[in-house]
Amino acid sequence: MTATTSVHGMWSNRMAFILAATGSAVGLGNIWKFPYIAGENGGGAFVVVYLLCVSTIGIPVMMAEILLGRRGRQSPINTMRTLAHEESRHGFWQLIGWGGLIAGFLIISYYSVVAGWALAYVFRALGGAFISLDGETAQSLFGSLVADPERLLAWHTIFMVMTVVVVSRGVRSGLEQSVRILMPALFLLLLLLVGFALSTGKFMEGLEFLFHPDFAALSPGAVITAMGHSFFTLSLGMGAIMMYGSYLPSSASIAGATIAIALMDTLVALLAGMAIFPLVFANGLAPGAGPGLVFQTLPIAFGNMPGGLVFSTVFFVLLVFAAWTSAISLIEPAVAWLVENRGMARVRASAYVGISGWLLGILTILSFNHGAFSFDFAGEERKNGFFDLLDILTANFMLPLGGLAIAIFAGWFMARESTRDELAMGDGPAYRLWRFLIRYVSPAAIAIVFLNAVGLV
Ligand code: PHE
Repeated sequence: MTATTSVHGMWSNRMAFILAATGSAVGLGNIWKFPYIAGENGGGAFVVVYLLCVSTIGIPVMMAEILLGRRGRQSPINTMRTLAHEESRHGFWQLIGWGGLIAGFLIISYYSVVAGWALAYVFRALGGAFISLDGETAQSLFGSLVADPERLLAWHTIFMVMTVVVVSRGVRSGLEQSVRILMPALFLLLLLLVGFALSTGKFMEGLEFLFHPDFAALSPGAVITAMGHSFFTLSLGMGAIMMYGSYLPSSASIAGATIAIALMDTLVALLAGMAIFPLVFANGLAPGAGPGLVFQTLPIAFGNMPGGLVFSTVFFVLLVFAAWTSAISLIEPAVAWLVENRGMARVRASAYVGISGWLLGILTILSFNHGAFSFDFAGEERKNGFFDLLDILTANFMLPLGGLAIAIFAGWFMARESTRDELAMGDGPAYRLWRFLIRYVSPAAIAIVFLNAVGLV
């Protein structure tokens, strides 16, 4: 056993950890990405695969990440090095930490740009830009934003500064304080929006789209995207949850916390879908609009409904809050690593990571205007060059592979006693179920999805 506390600080209790990890999990992934990829991939069947992945891969891998983090008590790179040493395994297992560091850095670069759109839309909504909006104007509103690199850069900069400020304040007064306020607000706002969607008269049509599966329409690319999304939305496979686990007090139970986090994350995604699709159908709009779904179609819906100004402002504030609590967890592992290995002060480390992510974000900004190019992925055309490349590389490949490595390490390369002691749920059926899932089910499921994508299964 290594240290019982982390040098970076600790959550004040288990509840604070659950809030923070839920804050990390619930983000643009739930509210912006889930509805648009579900829309592009035909709804129902895609949602079923995503839910299957969350339960058979997501939950066991999240438990593994938390237990590794809490046992190592350091940034993912050093945690993996320490644990590999403790279990007398090869040092290359720390590559899990390195891969995660790189994935987090790539993700924050585009995440911050999209969060910047949400920021821009808060002010548009407040200014009444959506009142009586029609399809053409909505498209040109979104189009004029993404076509203007300077404006995108300004919002991207503001969001990155917000993220760096929270992270530089440290675990308890930065990370924990912010989620204590933001997470409850987020739930309230979302419930309000679903209530609004109920009044559109198209609620059942929205439910039907989300939950009625048509497996014939499911392409191999869609299956990979659904699995990748289950990692992305739960913040798994890159060390964010491992990092948060390192701040978790030793006595707290891991299994219960994991189930709470996964349930809340799934609930938010489904609620977001239930808020969005009825509005889409009530206005005769297309569910497969792509990354613009939230930004182009929803404002039309909001703009033509009573109370739209308030509801649309609320909606985009919600999106910014959700993105903010996720963004901090994307850079925390890199910041903690700089503090541990380079002896840097937290403030300086946060600034360095923020500036590097900000610079890389310029590639995403240019993907929607001067630097746009298209390519094919799994038979589908992707139109936003670097942005799509980064999204596919991280969500569809790096996170699932990171998760696979984590599952293999926890399931096969750690002593049974080590994982059993850390999970602290005895040796009963619950522990045995977890061990079975992490050793066989999760790795096999990840492998099958990949083999399926390359046409082997
Ligand atoms: N889970 C976050 C979301 O759904 C994104 C994220 C991915 C955050 C990986 C941290 C790590 O938006």
